[in-house]
Amino acid sequence: MAKRVYRPPHNVVAGRDMRNPFLGKDVISILDFSRSDLELLFRVADAMQKFRRSKIDLLSDKVVALAFFEPSTRTRLSFETAAKRLGANVIGFSAVEATSIAKGENLADTIRMLDSYADVIVIRHRFEGAAKFAAEIAENPVINAGDGKQHHPTQAMLDLYTVRSLFGRIDGLTYAVVGDLRYGRAATSFIYALTLFEPRKIFLVSPPLLKARPEVIEYLRKRGVPFEEVDSVDQVIEEIDVMYVTRIQKERFPDPMEYEKVKGAYRITLNLLKKGKDHLKVLHPLPKVDEVAHEVDESKYAAYFVQAANGVPVRMALLSLVLGADLEGKLGLKL
Ligand code: CP
Repeated sequence: MAKRVYRPPHNVVAGRDMRNPFLGKDVISILDFSRSDLELLFRVADAMQKFRRSKIDLLSDKVVALAFFEPSTRTRLSFETAAKRLGANVIGFSAVEATSIAKGENLADTIRMLDSYADVIVIRHRFEGAAKFAAEIAENPVINAGDGKQHHPTQAMLDLYTVRSLFGRIDGLTYAVVGDLRYGRAATSFIYALTLFEPRKIFLVSPPLLKARPEVIEYLRKRGVPFEEVDSVDQVIEEIDVMYVTRIQKERFPDPMEYEKVKGAYRITLNLLKKGKDHLKVLHPLPKVDEVAHEVDESKYAAYFVQAANGVPVRMALLSLVLGADLEGKLGLKL
């Protein structure tokens, strides 16, 4: 089914608003976007910061559907907060058992229904490709809030936004992406997102069983991004500016015995971080389990709670852009 045609007043080339490349667009992978698209998103997110505790009626005629077939705290609730701060109404569910899928309805029919009620569908599902499948069915835009081990594009958006806020830039920094690079969709999307910028170097740090998947390595090579795979964060601690830690995705292991082999394989402690640069920051998409020592939470290194909080302004910006809010008229923002 064709996507609904959005009709912005001008600057439209071949159905795409050149001032707003997000307008009416599905958000399936971070690689659907360019660097300049993300820079626009970050500018809008900056403008949303002052409404994160108040309200701006940019989307009061819109309904946002949150279709969460997998557990979530941050993504679902920050999307819901973002939508409500923008004046939109929110419908949805947070468990398969709460839907008619539990009675045997298929995913396609569920998406058709949500599409007929709402103006945008935010979907999380355990199957890779579920968001893309939904986007092929829905006329309205679909935003991927995580599909299996594959993509988590809005997480990558807020991750990059956080780096930009902390360092004033994304380019030229040395990154370590630490942990489960095999099953972790947030880690994978973060790595892909960095390829849109110019990192000095990316260290991929994981136990051998949890190395980044071949397609990710291939993509880094194709893009000519400087990277190196290493087994332990101790090997690179003195070189890095940003440490992006992820938990081991226990729920995605096909074989529980395989999980037992890597359980507790790495742990970030304050003593380790003290060996790094003074300005080193630790990001984590959360939830964290035991891979970061609690003592790190209160230290100058921890940026993960600020990062999670940034989910609201970044998702406010994304919903506004995708749904064509009047950002110029109401906020004086030049797109
Ligand atoms: N980062 C993230 O996706 O967290 P939730 O699973 O809580 O949404």
